[in-house]
Amino acid sequence: MDPFDAILELGGEQLRAAMVGVETRLREIAAVEQHSLATVAAGGKRLRPLLVFVAGLGSDAHVALSRAAAAVELIHSATLVHDDVLDDAPLRRGRQTVFAAAGRTAATATGDLLFSSAFAELTRNGVLAQLRALSGASAALARGELMQRADAWRADVTLERYLQRCELKTARLFAAACELGALASGGPPLGPFGRAVGLAFQLLDDVLDITGPAERTGKRRGTDLLDGTVTLPLILARESSPELAALDLRTIKGAADADRICTVIEATGAGERARQRALDLVAAAKRELPRECPPRQRQALELMADVLVERFA
Ligand code: IPE
Ligand code: IPE
Ligand code: MG
Ligand code: MG
Repeated sequence: MDPFDAILELGGEQLRAAMVGVETRLREIAAVEQHSLATVAAGGKRLRPLLVFVAGLGSDAHVALSRAAAAVELIHSATLVHDDVLDDAPLRRGRQTVFAAAGRTAATATGDLLFSSAFAELTRNGVLAQLRALSGASAALARGELMQRADAWRADVTLERYLQRCELKTARLFAAACELGALASGGPPLGPFGRAVGLAFQLLDDVLDITGPAERTGKRRGTDLLDGTVTLPLILARESSPELAALDLRTIKGAADADRICTVIEATGAGERARQRALDLVAAAKRELPRECPPRQRQALELMADVLVERFA
């Protein structure tokens, strides 16, 4: 069975209802404005809300978990809208980005609206520790994005710096989703698990940008190269390819050229090595789940890790 369905099966009617509920709530919150509504309505896999619910599996704190789940997804959505401004991205989730449809100013304001709505929603739980978890992740995200901009076009980005950027812009929100689930339910701490699978998720996303294909990713291959973002496959490939070691990203002219460089990167085996690194992280995260996790929750978390990897299989 597909791991996503397996999780829903494990979580039963309660989890299904929670996922439907979060969808309704997201639309309600976003409905105040057309671009925020379009962003939420364009879908997305809702991995982070699912992670909140799985991290709180078995608890009866339904309302608190639902607010936390909606809040995390709103932060994620805000981030994507802003990310598309920073990346000059035309497409997201197979649709035109807010940036492409309405311009930089409207997209920036839409992201701001979604960010603020996230905190308004989580505040309803009235728990300072929850707000601390989400605001920490939100600040980390913005720092990660700024770091990526600062590093743009720099071919000499180190592995350490790359990993720190991924930690900030992606892993911390996954960690927060897990922390929120655990905080709302009183369960064992799951932040480290979220962090590890989140980091793996970004690594795999970066691999997919190089390997494509576009039909799977909803965007063109080599998008990161074109906006000057150096990621793990290129960092690894530079070690074995003189052409790539000498590459100046600013000389990449257009999609066809980016596509050709992706092929050169792949040919060094760097895509596969980067992928393996992510899979190792996920395997370790599963092994290191807290002992106090009840069996059903442990199984659901392991499946959650599989879901995050599966998209990239
Ligand atoms: C995309 O996240 C951004 C990254 C962190 C790589 P998702 O792949 O979870 O995006 P949606 O919500 O499903 O579109
Ligand atoms: C992930 O970064 C987005 C954030 C976590 C802010 P990417 O730039 O790799 O995401 P995509 O590839 O545009 O979805
Ligand atoms: Mg992007
Ligand atoms: Mg990407």
